Amino acid sequence: MAEGFSLVILSGMLMCGLLLHMISQHEASVKKPSEKPNFIVILADDIGWGDLDSNQPEEKANRTPYLNLMAEQGLRLTDFHSPASTCSPSRAAILTGRYGLRNGVTHNFAVGSVAGLPLSEVTLPQLLRKAGYYTAMIGKWHLGHNGRYGPLKRGFDYYLGIPYSNDMGCTDIPGYNLPQCPPCDSSGPQVIRLKRSGHGGCYSKVGLPLIENSSIVEQPLDLWTLTDQYKSTATRIIQNARERGQPYLLYIALAHMHVPLSPRFPPDSSATGVRPDEVYAASLREMDDLVGAVKSASDDADKNNTLVWFTGDNGPWEQKCQFAGSVGPFMGKWQTSRGGGSAKRTTWEGGHRVPTVAYWPGRIPANTTSSALLSGMDIFPTLLSLAGVTPPSDRRYDGIDATNILLNGEQNGHEFLFHPNSGAAGKFGDLQTVRTGKHKAFYITGAAEACGGATGQQQLHDPPLIFDLQRDEAEETPLEVETPEYQAVAERIARRREELLWDIASDESVSTADYSTKESAAPCCDPTLPVCRCHTLG
Ligand SMILES: *[C@@H]1O[C@H](CO)[C@@H](O)[C@H](O)[C@H]1NC(C)=O
Ligand SMILES: *[C@@H]1O[C@H](CO)[C@@H](O)[C@H](O)[C@H]1NC(C)=O
Ligand SMILES: *[C@@H]1O[C@H](CO)[C@@H](O)[C@H](O)[C@H]1NC(C)=O
Repeated sequence: MAEGFSLVILSGMLMCGLLLHMISQHEASVKKPSEKPNFIVILADDIGWGDLDSNQPEEKANRTPYLNLMAEQGLRLTDFHSPASTCSPSRAAILTGRYGLRNGVTHNFAVGSVAGLPLSEVTLPQLLRKAGYYTAMIGKWHLGHNGRYGPLKRGFDYYLGIPYSNDMGCTDIPGYNLPQCPPCDSSGPQVIRLKRSGHGGCYSKVGLPLIENSSIVEQPLDLWTLTDQYKSTATRIIQNARERGQPYLLYIALAHMHVPLSPRFPPDSSATGVRPDEVYAASLREMDDLVGAVKSASDDADKNNTLVWFTGDNGPWEQKCQFAGSVGPFMGKWQTSRGGGSAKRTTWEGGHRVPTVAYWPGRIPANTTSSALLSGMDIFPTLLSLAGVTPPSDRRYDGIDATNILLNGEQNGHEFLFHPNSGAAGKFGDLQTVRTGKHKAFYITGAAEACGGATGQQQLHDPPLIFDLQRDEAEETPLEVETPEYQAVAERIARRREELLWDIASDESVSTADYSTKESAAPCCDPTLPVCRCHTLG
């Protein structure tokens, strides 16, 4: 009996062991979803708050059906701001969680920039990779492409994209721009000229490169197939991640909606089949379609374990007229009535309030909206917190952990949020505008170039202009200085601004970016061929 009994136990143990073995073998082939969530951050370029249909339902447009669906299945953030109102500073702040005055990036890098985001800065992909994440990036980097500054050196395992804006290099079939830029100049010997030359600010001497990992794979690239390349690469990364069973960060920095626009939408229209007045809408639909493809790949791969966060890097580029997006109701009327534009490059709402949707089925409540005051700088601490990673404590951060706003309907965002100057007025990076609650104060105002070319004067304001955005989202009429409301807000804001400026001045972890340029720093596939072509035209 005893013998038989022990035999039964033994065979039970054997079976159990066999079963365990089978399970672990099964896990090895189709790995079970990782415990840490996946993150997909999609950053649109120069998109307007009003470009997202669900931000302006009264317009009854149907240009962003996939984003609308994502909002219906997720959370729409209506008071979300890009950390700056131009490209490089906004991207630097997103990847470091710090204002430009701390991370050193206060204005854009150039084709010939020798450096980029200071190497002393620690990036989001760097920290996630250390925590076991696979990190991939698709799209526009614009944080320095030379030497040690490219994406593969700053925390990404894989990269496919363009090193800076899609208008910072010529292509053979140019997209829609204003003024329209000519095709690459293919005659004569290759002469690298970094300055925009002729043709109203077009680059014509260096082809726009497409970079994979650290190599140029196409120069000039084909603008008209870029969307498809991004789409298939994103889909492949998401599917591969599922097989790898490793959590991942996928950062997609779209070329949309930055000029030159190159929509091939709807599919049955040829490149010439798009009417000029339809170009922006067609590009927006194309972008939306790309977002939809990413969402659907993610839903198929690891649905309830992936946070998709869509936002923008700054407001629309108004001087591009019909090729610029919509600021919606955020028209910056105080400024526009005095001349000049009030979107990209300015600290008017149109410059930095961006359409934002967060989607995470099963975790973020569906069909919800939050007006919590948030910034692109919050992506850094929020994703790290969700991944269970503590950022290095040797530096100060400006972003906040928005986990409870995303997942639990909490409404408390930033008590104070500063908007840095990105080119319209005074010194780059200066914290010239402050938001608290419904109020926004301007210490300096300035305008960007408007459609038609008008610009405005920089103006100092002491006491500051203060607008009530709840009553006056168009920022038209500032509060009267004598009112108790003004006095109370002005006092709080002034105190906080002093504190922050002192905090930054005494911050030993402040970085300084090297903005110097030289011709040999421009990405160049073959210097012996015109416009640095990878192959002769054939
Ligand atoms: C980029 O890296 C991936 C592996 O991460 C590799 O499969 C691919 O071939 C590389 N591409 C280039 C152009 O080196
Ligand atoms: C995702 O979560 C939702 C809500 O918790 C659930 O109904 C659904 O079945 C889950 N889907 C998958 C693919 O796990
Ligand atoms: C989402 O909410 C809106 C308004 O709150 C409502 O009209 C709509 O039917 C909801 N959609 C879904 C899919 O529940």
